[in-house]
Amino acid sequence: MDPTEAVGILDEQLERGRALIAAAGTIEALEEAKVALLGRKAPISSVQSSLGSLPPDVRRDVGRRTNEAFAELRTALEARRVEIEEGGDLERLEADRVDVTLPGRRLRGGSLHPLTIVEAEIVDIFTRIGYRVVEGPEVEDEWHNFDALNIPPDHPARTSMDTTFLDVPDHPELVLRTHTSPMQIRTMENQEPPVYVIVPGRVYRNEEITAKNMPVFHQVEGLAVDEGISFADLNGTLLTFYRELLGPEREVRLTPSFFPFVEPGCQVEVSCFVCGGSGCRTCAYTGWIETMGAGMVHPTVLENVGYDPERYTGFAFGGGYDRLAMIRFGIPDIRLLWENDVRFLEQFEGVA
Ligand code: DAH
Repeated sequence: MDPTEAVGILDEQLERGRALIAAAGTIEALEEAKVALLGRKAPISSVQSSLGSLPPDVRRDVGRRTNEAFAELRTALEARRVEIEEGGDLERLEADRVDVTLPGRRLRGGSLHPLTIVEAEIVDIFTRIGYRVVEGPEVEDEWHNFDALNIPPDHPARTSMDTTFLDVPDHPELVLRTHTSPMQIRTMENQEPPVYVIVPGRVYRNEEITAKNMPVFHQVEGLAVDEGISFADLNGTLLTFYRELLGPEREVRLTPSFFPFVEPGCQVEVSCFVCGGSGCRTCAYTGWIETMGAGMVHPTVLENVGYDPERYTGFAFGGGYDRLAMIRFGIPDIRLLWENDVRFLEQFEGVA
């Protein structure tokens, strides 16, 4: 092969190569072009193998041109390969296109039960000021539900609570808890002071079902026992709580009352969050809504759980929140809270 012929072949192959590569529409066609252009039998390869027979003065020049031709064709092949692959992706995307303009089938979003919303808010407020949340058994024994709370067997509080006794063989002591207060005892039995807990949960009393009453309802109990706790701490805690829960303008009023497990004991009222305290139907035109019982933990109760009443003092509070939820959401009948009618339930929104 003489040098002129060799250079001619190179130019020819470059031209042929550009055309072949451009025309290849699939990876397979491109592979074929590659073999034809760069394979062992390709004209350009024969130029390469004839280099050794060329006179040395032209060999360098033809060798360089051969390398350049190889390089250009390889680059062009690779560029085309990328093009074809990307084109394939686009085609696939095009083929897989989904029509999202049709109305889809909506998933029904859930919503929270009004009691869950109120309970979550109560829990949130108390956990932010350092209280722990505990829950306890709804089937209690009389010791925790009554005796340990300084309510002896003949005490009127025992009957006034309309206790539901359970008919469990060999366990005459079992009742459905009538309040969340037994968890005061269980908590103190299980830990040393300081104690800061709240207990939300269901309680049971054997009552008629009416628009205002259910034999099962919800209470939240609070208990703080530490060195140096005073009635002022109770007052401040309740004020903080109600202002967080029901608005910064709320006031709290504590009036003397009696519960066997606290001394002194009080009734807790909050200024009406419907009328702001001026008087309306909700607060029976008094400006106040009764919410809880509270007081300083009775020394006998502390002794019952093995705490030293000379060293520790504490306060407790407890009350229902079904009514709060009802006022808050304008629910006229407590039975609605139990019927699980979706049309009722789906109206409430809140973050638990
Ligand atoms: N357990 C009482 C009830 O259900 C409410 C109560 C009153 C709870 C005074 C307390 C308290 O913790 O100190 O009627």
